[in-house]
Amino acid sequence: MCGIVGYVGDEEAAPILLDGLRRLEYRGYDSAGVAVHENGGLEIVRAVGKLRNLEKALSDKGLGGTVGIGHTRWATHGRPSEVNAHPHASGPIAVVHNGIIENHLELRAELEADGFTIASDTDTEIVSHLIHRETKAGHDMATAVRRALGHVEGAYAIAVASEAEPRRVVVAKSSSPLVLGVARGATYCASDIPALLPYTNSMVFMEDGEIAVLDEDGFSLSTLRGEPVNRRPRKISWSPVMAEKAGFKHFMLKEIFEQPRALEDTLRGRLDRERADVETAEIGLSEADAKAIRRVILLACGTSHHATIAGRYWLEELAGVPAITELASEFRGRDAVVEEGDLVIAVSQSGETIDTLMAAKEAKERGAKVLAIANVNGSAIPRMADASFYTHAGPEIGVASTKCFIAQLANLLMFSIWLARRRGAMSESEAGELVEGLARIPHLVDERLKTTFDAVSGMVREFSGARDVLFLGRGLSFPMALEGALKLKEISYVHAEGYAAGEMKHGPIALLDAQVPVIVIAPKDRHYERVCSNLEEARAREAKIIGVTTAGDTQTQALCDAFVEVAPTHEALSPFVTVIPLQLYAYCVADHKGTDVDQPRNLAKTVTVE
Ligand code: AGP
Repeated sequence: MCGIVGYVGDEEAAPILLDGLRRLEYRGYDSAGVAVHENGGLEIVRAVGKLRNLEKALSDKGLGGTVGIGHTRWATHGRPSEVNAHPHASGPIAVVHNGIIENHLELRAELEADGFTIASDTDTEIVSHLIHRETKAGHDMATAVRRALGHVEGAYAIAVASEAEPRRVVVAKSSSPLVLGVARGATYCASDIPALLPYTNSMVFMEDGEIAVLDEDGFSLSTLRGEPVNRRPRKISWSPVMAEKAGFKHFMLKEIFEQPRALEDTLRGRLDRERADVETAEIGLSEADAKAIRRVILLACGTSHHATIAGRYWLEELAGVPAITELASEFRGRDAVVEEGDLVIAVSQSGETIDTLMAAKEAKERGAKVLAIANVNGSAIPRMADASFYTHAGPEIGVASTKCFIAQLANLLMFSIWLARRRGAMSESEAGELVEGLARIPHLVDERLKTTFDAVSGMVREFSGARDVLFLGRGLSFPMALEGALKLKEISYVHAEGYAAGEMKHGPIALLDAQVPVIVIAPKDRHYERVCSNLEEARAREAKIIGVTTAGDTQTQALCDAFVEVAPTHEALSPFVTVIPLQLYAYCVADHKGTDVDQPRNLAKTVTVE
């Protein structure tokens, strides 16, 4: 986790670093700091809490230097405090770091024996002393970084500044993300693209085991072993406006309302309505590959994991392919069986989640082909995968994932249709109906967003005081129930459980009384009757029922204390419409409670720690 930035140019560095950190704040926000070259030395300013505290500290300082590094922290080693905030200094060296140094205790003992005093509880400070030790031995900054990293085990993206080389920043990476930005007379680095978008769209994605020296004329890239690397910047099509709030109160709300566009952009050019098929040439799988797949293993975490459960149902029901879902963190390190003919689909909004990355790597090492579904072009998971199928949801800033989730659903469904057609599991007319239906989904979602928001806003006052909430669904509505509960938990801090409706009577029913709202997802599909029976069971225990119902379903609506209507769709498409009121419910409850919607406590957007 954590976000790092760096700048070398001829403008004041502090405002640029601060602006970059603001755009990275979703990665961590318990403390922040910058180091700026100033009058022959390095001026370090750090502050605990949100970025505004650092901003205040910086305005009191009035730094004018034009080269610097910055950091926003999500604590892993050492509690949030000023002494644990980055940058960490050792003599003339200052370091910011995202990742975890696994052998830091061993290195700490070694450095203390060498006479270094370690002030913080962090693993990062170790890196600054290691580099300092190498500069004391006479090495320049790049060589010192290279040599220091030779002692380090773990994950890192670091940016280093040295008083001895005031017009340079040295960066290096292993496992944690790092992107360079190139503009006329200025070079930047950051953990993620949005931090750089206001300054340049010309970017270079660094690979693991690489180091770069940045100055105002650009960068020189090489491997940590010293071999030069020639990689040209690529143009990023995201605009800075895509990463702004555009009049919405929160990024999350803006991103919920952007879902029709995220879907349109993700579906664009991929639905072949004439041939009732899906165009997936970009994936590079042949017809023979499609037929050779014996099983699909879907790997992901959090919200992306919920998308994979829907993906599994589609793969099985539409394409007739055996499929399993695995939480990436559970797949790792337990010798899960991977067999010949297994296709692993690793799903990740950020493309950087360490558990998903490492799980997919493990599967690849055991012989599986890996297909990445990610939203960030050139991120780590697509880079390690054999093939990629990107979602095009644009940058997602709110920590709670919404538009990327719906775009992941679109890709998983498109892939299932593609596979079904190749394997003869779906007739042309079935495929035609589904492809037509999917093409209409952005419009269906758009049409109801505003009224759904109004309906949900109107009901939260009554329900937002609940301590526990149960979400129930069957079939494709089950992963939506999981997702609704996760959204509510993460941003409103209300305890919520997503349950397969049929499982309620096996335990959770004991929780029900008049204080517990039960959100029942009951679209008119093949599970409808049985879900309605479960709804009745909850009602009989006096639970308050909030129904997510198909428009016009007055029979079910009459059983609910409150309800939201969703558009009627092809049964396989219901998740695209049922998830919207659940996202809005979580948003409205959180907003009503006044929690920090975009940056909920203890969370970070991209989880690069295990
Ligand atoms: C989503 O609302 C969460 N913040 C979180 O569960 C997230 O989905 C998870 O960390 C996986 O992230 P990824 O999609 O970037 O891999």
